[in-house]
Amino acid sequence: MRHLLISLSLLFYAGTISAQTKNTSEDILQKTDPVAMNAFIDNLMSRMTLEEKLGQLNQHPGGQIVTGAPLESPTGKLIAEGKLGSVFNVKGVDEIHAMQKVAVEKSRLGIPLLVAMDVIHGFETMFPVPLGVACTWDMDAIYESARIAAEESAANGVAWTFSPMVDIALDSRWGRQAESAGEDPYLGSKVAEAMVRGYQTRIMACVKHFALYGGAEAGLDYQTVDMSRQRMYNQYFPPYKAAVDAGVGSVMSSFNIVDGIPATANRWLLDDVLRRQWGFKGLLVTDYASIAEMSIHGLGQLKENSIRALLAGTDMDMCANGFIGTLEQSLKEGKVTQADIDRACRNVLEAKYKLGLFDDPYRFGDKKKAKAITYCKAHRDAARRITAESFVLLKNDAVNGKSLLPLKKQGTIALIGPLVDTRTDIAGTWSTVQAPEKYKTLREGFQDALKGKATLLCTQGCNLLDNQKTQEMVARGHGNEPIPFVDADAALAEAVAVAKQADVIVCAMGECAWMSGEGTSRSILELYPPQRRLLEALTALGKPIVLLNFAGRATALQWEDEHLPAIMNVWFGSECADALCDVLFGEVSPSGRLTVSMPRVTGQEPLYYNHLPSGRPVADGSKDYSVFTGNYIDVAQGALYPFGYGLTYSQFTYSAPRLSATKMTTNGSVDVSVTVTNTGQREATEVVQLYIHDREASISRPVKELKDFSRITLKPGESKDVVFKITPDKLSFYNYDLQYVLEPGEFDIMTGPDSRNVQSATLKVE
Ligand code: NOJ
Repeated sequence: MRHLLISLSLLFYAGTISAQTKNTSEDILQKTDPVAMNAFIDNLMSRMTLEEKLGQLNQHPGGQIVTGAPLESPTGKLIAEGKLGSVFNVKGVDEIHAMQKVAVEKSRLGIPLLVAMDVIHGFETMFPVPLGVACTWDMDAIYESARIAAEESAANGVAWTFSPMVDIALDSRWGRQAESAGEDPYLGSKVAEAMVRGYQTRIMACVKHFALYGGAEAGLDYQTVDMSRQRMYNQYFPPYKAAVDAGVGSVMSSFNIVDGIPATANRWLLDDVLRRQWGFKGLLVTDYASIAEMSIHGLGQLKENSIRALLAGTDMDMCANGFIGTLEQSLKEGKVTQADIDRACRNVLEAKYKLGLFDDPYRFGDKKKAKAITYCKAHRDAARRITAESFVLLKNDAVNGKSLLPLKKQGTIALIGPLVDTRTDIAGTWSTVQAPEKYKTLREGFQDALKGKATLLCTQGCNLLDNQKTQEMVARGHGNEPIPFVDADAALAEAVAVAKQADVIVCAMGECAWMSGEGTSRSILELYPPQRRLLEALTALGKPIVLLNFAGRATALQWEDEHLPAIMNVWFGSECADALCDVLFGEVSPSGRLTVSMPRVTGQEPLYYNHLPSGRPVADGSKDYSVFTGNYIDVAQGALYPFGYGLTYSQFTYSAPRLSATKMTTNGSVDVSVTVTNTGQREATEVVQLYIHDREASISRPVKELKDFSRITLKPGESKDVVFKITPDKLSFYNYDLQYVLEPGEFDIMTGPDSRNVQSATLKVE
């Protein structure tokens, strides 16, 4: 088969330019004059001792040093001695400035500290977990969420966030799916770009975890990863690369193995791919103590691993004390060169310079501004709007001849479930500086929404899980207040009594905040038994039930789908309670779409729509088992709710896709248009999706790949032609030799409301 090699540089050139053109006015890192920066850093480095250079490569969590006595703390001493270049996860302008003062006034050269934080889905104004934000498919909203997080961070002293996490997450057992954009490389790339651009309006972003961290075997966090390089390039690398193209200032390497070598010290990954092929010029930091963990991976001692990490391209050592503790000796022994150390030191100093820290070490952190803008009304309003956009309505059947949702603010509403009264869970996983005391619980949100209009009855109803220790640990392990572990029988009886008085039952169940996030793998994605038991008891009452499924990952809701009329996925956020009322009571029509496939049962994981074909395929949705084909004996084929899926309070119809030409040259383009009509009764938003399938290629290609989408809002009866442009880039892929190619042949061009319900046309590339 003839194939045409597309010039990589040419294709990505266009993308890079457009991203940077948009960025120049906004991106704080782009404003630097490189000549002035180099001269400044040359001069500074000429005055630095080896120890001071190694100090710049050293990063620790800040610990809270007491204002007024910072020098006495161990961290303060390190800073004063010039042995710490960066601290992270310190809260408070006073605390941060106290540390900065030590760096500037007590260390010999006065080099300012680089202050970082895990600002993952908001600072104090918390957006849904990143997976939920991605479910908006709204790049402006995603940009805005990152911009607001950056504005609050900068005012509160933080110059650098360890976000976005763009790891492709195919296996929903992996709890860190919550921090990702989901399973798709195209959507993930768009999200990565939007987040980097949003953050870098004020602070430096850090794309992580490079690379493949989401490929952990069996969805078990920190577990090993193994995959082909084609798969890396085609499926896992694109979002990291998109972040680099968008100008991300820093990259964090991942804990896992890549091709047998920990990413932390994988020269091919960090130097060949990241620096040389992609042209990344920023700061490369390890993940937490990763250099030390290399010994546990079986690669010998800290000294040797520090050499490996430095030579692979690592600039900053997070928490392992490998660089500061061993590189001096390795330099003496000739195992690393002064140039290696200088390179790393320069990258750290450049980041500080670009952030303006040498001009004003205190420019991040302004108490007056922090007070004025942190969790301010404008930010809360934005979060409420974006949170409402993130909910995914999975089911909304008719009850008494009418779709159950939206609910009316009337009669008696029972709000039942373990998530009803918890304040520390509402914002979701991984919120370093959350301020739960400021956030509304669900009960409070409902009370405000229903005041004077309907009666609200609330009760917990059940535990999250049957194991008390686990229920407490998932909260306490992260400093959260656990959801009370209640007497199961009494709670169930009370819930049934409450529900009996209601016209409609709203159940708030699923995961608490820290049942997703780092170190939260699950082997069971179904609702845990106490929650299921409660639902069974409530369904027996024969009343309409809405399930609000709180989650930081795809969960398995087959039973619920069979037994409940309405289900909506909810992804947390500080404004979650109000946003939920906006949607449930119909002020806002839901518009979120899944960015992960939701399985019928856990055993289907990893489940993702863009898989490679099997030689024995079975139709998606097929219920009957057939022998010697690629299906399970005991479950219908494919997702319960597919990637891209989500309902709204209106209905839409789609025409078949129309191509402007049925043939395209390898450097040409073709337009695909599809007419979308709102056939329902109210204005609503639809996410129109474009997928392709390469029918015949030199390597096996996915059965479907998302290549574009458009979020449109239509009034009842309104139609719109949505036009997508098919360009060579949309049809190209990395071949066996990792060349980026467009191979002539036939492609299915598919459009529709989700990855399952598509109509198709054929395009021939010549
Ligand atoms: C470990 C996590 O993997 C990473 O995402 C995070 O940024 C660091 N810890 C720092 O807290």
